[in-house]
Amino acid sequence: MTSFRITGRAPLEGTVEASGSKNAALPVLAAAILAEGPVRLERVPEVGDVATLIEVLSELGLRIERAGDAVNIETIDPHPVRARYELVRRMRASFCVLGPLLARRGKAMVSLPGGCNIGPRPIDLHLKGLSELGAKVEIEEGYVAARADRLFGAVIDLSGPRGPTVTGTANVLSAAVLARGTTVIENAATEPEIVDLGQFLRALGARIEGLGTSTIYVVGAEELGGATYRVAADRIEAGTLLLAAAITGGRATVTGIVPDQLRAVLLKLRDAGFTIQGSKDRVTVMSHGRPRAVDVTALPYPGIPTDLQAQWMALLALADGQSVVRDRVFPGRFAHVDELKRLGAQIELRNSTATVTGVERLTGAHVAASDLRASAALVLAGLAAEGRTVVHHIEHLDRGYQQLDEKLAQLGAKIERVALSKYHGV
Ligand code: UD1
Repeated sequence: MTSFRITGRAPLEGTVEASGSKNAALPVLAAAILAEGPVRLERVPEVGDVATLIEVLSELGLRIERAGDAVNIETIDPHPVRARYELVRRMRASFCVLGPLLARRGKAMVSLPGGCNIGPRPIDLHLKGLSELGAKVEIEEGYVAARADRLFGAVIDLSGPRGPTVTGTANVLSAAVLARGTTVIENAATEPEIVDLGQFLRALGARIEGLGTSTIYVVGAEELGGATYRVAADRIEAGTLLLAAAITGGRATVTGIVPDQLRAVLLKLRDAGFTIQGSKDRVTVMSHGRPRAVDVTALPYPGIPTDLQAQWMALLALADGQSVVRDRVFPGRFAHVDELKRLGAQIELRNSTATVTGVERLTGAHVAASDLRASAALVLAGLAAEGRTVVHHIEHLDRGYQQLDEKLAQLGAKIERVALSKYHGV
């Protein structure tokens, strides 16, 4: 088991560069199944989830070589169609191979992803969209079996009970690019990661309009070529680093990003009393004492992302006053609440609403996280807590953050990565 040992209360200062976006890289990598020619992807983050998807794609006949932050991909066997349970269970986003496999190989057998520790995550909209493109979709022995000799363009509405689906839009978009005729995706996700996927598909030769809006138009092609493409920077990692600087009362700059993608987060930081300076590719956050309490509701883009909700809660645990935190995307995503309380946070959770009464100080403790972003929230709280905090099960964090400990240390955080065989003696 790997843990982070943190000695808190060192204000973060300095500049750090964001890595490539995990959530953009995953559907883009999966869409390489569609390419007839070689694909080179740049700024692909070195994180656990990307490694898992590379394993899935290797089993699907793709040869994938890493060279620093670039990945070179070529199809060497276009016949495999099965994504195994063991891999899909390890990472839900492996499900992003469903659309590309179906469109390019006429058949896909992808394990159902199963349960998830941030709450219910159905895949009904993915299946509805692919069915409407003309695929026969069945569930067989825990696998989604989708078949179609040819897909046909259609009008597909992807709105769900809590807004559009991000990876569902990725699956349908990646299939529609090889369908005969025109597809209109209504209530498509507008997240920057979908724009990134669309731009990659365009680089392969796909005809797509409306990216970044809720209606995407696709004119299907007979085949797609190869391309070199640079993945966007990780807005969630950038937001996490800015919130880390904020919670420590520091002043830090994150570079290599598109500040507009963090607009809702930056406006909320201003409301909480921080000074924000943004320019073309960087944002600086400056602290002036204790944050003010603010209410935070996670929403689909362009709202505050659910993937930053837990980190916000860590910050608000130290705010002056009472804040209300809700998550409209994953209403039950509150696994971090009990662990934050172990550090002294005062949070009351009732009917999917967390009321956070800010305290003047948190105190170090042993904490353990059960998912990626909850781990990040605990690291942030540890950076602000008095004394020593040990965050266990950092394997969750390593799935989605590229060397977060090193980036934080670069900003002056006292954080060490330790391999612990027991909880004792630290
Ligand atoms: C993606 C992100 C994840 C982020 C989430 C929301 C990746 C790899 N993961 O996950 O980090 O937290 O978007 O921004 O990019 N829903 C349905 N039916 C479906 C699909 C979804 O009802 O078929 C519901 C979900 O339960 C949820 C909401 O729609 O309430 C959003 O889920 P979705 O956008 O699909 O999340 P993911 O794509 O799995």
